[in-house]
This record gives sequence, structure tokens and C-alpha cells, in this order.
Amino acid sequence: MKNYKIAILAGDGIGPEIMSEAVKVLKVIEERNDLSFELNEAAFGGCAYYESGHPFPEETKTICDNSEAILKGPIGMNHEDSERIPVDLRPERGALLPLRKRLNTYANFRPVSLPSGLAHFSPLKPEVIGDGIDMVMIRELVGGLYFGEKEVGVNSDGLRYVKENLEYDESQIARIVHVGFQQAMRRKKILHNIHKSNVLKSSVLWNEVLGEVSVEYPEVEVRHMLVDAAATALCLNPAQFDVMVMENMFGDILSDQGGGILGSLGLMPSACIGDSSAYYEPSHGSAPDIAGQNIANPYSMIGSVAMMLELSFDMLEESKNVWAAMQSVFADGFSTPDLSKPGAGVKMIKTNEFGDRVVAVLSK
Ligand code: IPM
Ligand code: MG
Repeated sequence: MKNYKIAILAGDGIGPEIMSEAVKVLKVIEERNDLSFELNEAAFGGCAYYESGHPFPEETKTICDNSEAILKGPIGMNHEDSERIPVDLRPERGALLPLRKRLNTYANFRPVSLPSGLAHFSPLKPEVIGDGIDMVMIRELVGGLYFGEKEVGVNSDGLRYVKENLEYDESQIARIVHVGFQQAMRRKKILHNIHKSNVLKSSVLWNEVLGEVSVEYPEVEVRHMLVDAAATALCLNPAQFDVMVMENMFGDILSDQGGGILGSLGLMPSACIGDSSAYYEPSHGSAPDIAGQNIANPYSMIGSVAMMLELSFDMLEESKNVWAAMQSVFADGFSTPDLSKPGAGVKMIKTNEFGDRVVAVLSK
């Protein structure tokens, strides 16, 4: 029987609550398939800093290095708790970015998906949504402004200044662009290339490399779009998008907008894939304001499990089952307070009840 080691990094805020529900789903999958999941919990994020003095402790690194996949909850503290941590040890800079760099997970898949039955979650008008929203944003995750050299100082005029570099070499661009084309080949064969080549030289090189790579995918139609125009287009006509590919910072911003058009970032799971490592995480933060209340919807965390089943363990059918189970819970009128206001037709349930219902549907 195959045994898969999975590192479980519950993280901060709502992380532990939604992670518990994701683990329930993993147990169901394990029980009915010829495999076992060895789940190894490890401290990561602000909680790890307060426990041990570092947000990404050595022990956690070892557990991650020895795992087939990593399931990671959201990280980050509220403003006050964050301010008490030295700047470079705050969870984002001290744990999350080092994790991405260490695993070299350069391809971030962020599905922005809302079946027509769930269209009521979206703030967009029904005539804009049409048959629902279904696209995947592919974000470069280990380069660009996030990882470029940084300099802070005082210049010769006595003024404080900062310099942050946006760096990519052609190999970094080519590998993520390939991922975009490969996704497009599996889907509608349309690839939106998101860039800002009217201003940024980095986009000029990006587009050049994309043009070279495109020769290997003659069936894919490339549509170029400036990132600012893409932000508008996402609101006005999201149905035109199927696969979008973009650099790190653009992807950070547009994927949050993706959550916005769905109605909540709570509906945004993600997969972070490298050549030999993978980790899975919700695209959102740790929502410290609602932590511990058992009201956060675990969709993004359970969706991250679904993505893990598909992309790390090649269990496409079970992955589809998990998506379908979550959607059927919504379709039956259940929702959680973070996603829906109480009102006609909404049966309000708690975080753990949502997980239990998903498990019940899945086990049928
Ligand atoms: C995301 C998050 C992170 C990012 C933060 C927490 C550093 O916003 O995954 O989108 O900016 O990449
Ligand atoms: Mg973000």
C-alpha cells in the first residue's frame, strides 16, 4: 500500500479551524482508497514565532523536506501582534516567502471558479456572470519584486529612500509560460498573457520569451492584455478568460480580485507547484478578526486538498468528488456566516458542520 507523507501546517488565525475540516476529508479519501496518508503537523507562521522564536523553525523545514506534499493554512497575525515581531521574522517575510523559495514552487495555480448554481455569491449581476465563472490564474511565485534585491537607506540629499528590484531571467519566464500553455492545451486552448509592456521592461522580456515558447503550442491562441485592462475586464466580462498567466505581483493582485468577483476569498484555494515539490494553501489571509469562532468557511482549505489529490497524487476522480461534495452542500442551501447573510433560503451552519456535511456527501 502506498504511503504518502503530508506536512500539515495549520498556520494562524482561522488556519487551525479550517485545517481540521480538510483533515476530515483526507481521512475519508484514505479509508476508501488503497493508500495511507501520514499526516505530520508542524508549526509555521506567527504561532511558530511566538512558540519558538522563529516563524519557520528548523523542525518544520525538515518535516516539509521529507513530505510528498504540504498542506498549509493561512498565516499572519493581527496588526498589534504582528508589530511585536521583528520585521524580517513576520510570518509573510519570515516563513511564507522562504517556504516558496526553498521548495522553488514557481507555478501558482489559482482557480477562480463559481458554478452557475453558486452565482448568488458573486457581487456581479447575473447577466454578467452568465453560465458561471471558470478560469485559472497562473501566477509566477518565486521571482519578480517579491524576491529582488532590496535596499533601504538615506540618500545624499538626506532623504530616506527605498529600492526594490523586479528581476526575471528568461529561464524563469519560460518555465512559467510553459505551464500556462500546458494548462491552455488541457482547457480551451486560449491563453491570456497579462503584462504591462507599455511601461515595464520586465514585461517586454516576458512577452518576447512567451512569443518564443508559443511556437511549441501552435494550437493555443494567445491574447495579450495589459494588467490594468485585465482588472476591468475581470469585472465586466469574466467569461472571456479561461487561462491567464502573469508574473508574481500582478498575480497577487489580480487573484484577490478573482476572489472579489466570486464574492469571497474564502472560495479561493490554490496549488503551488515546483519541479520536485508542491504545497497547497488558501489564497487568503488568516482572518484574525473571526478566528476561533467556528464561522469561517473551510472551502478554500478543502479545495486545496482537492487540488493536492489531483496534482500530487494523481487522484483526479477523488478530486472531482471533493469539489462536487462542497458544491452540493451549498446547493442544499447551507452556508457559513463569513460567506452569506442570514436570510431567505440560507441555512446557516458552522465551520465544523460544513466539513461534516462535505464528509457525509463524500461518503455516500
Ligand atoms: C498570497 C498572499 C501572500 C502574497 C502574502 C501573505 C505574502 O497575499 O498568497 O497571495 O503576497 O503572495
Ligand atoms: Mg495575495
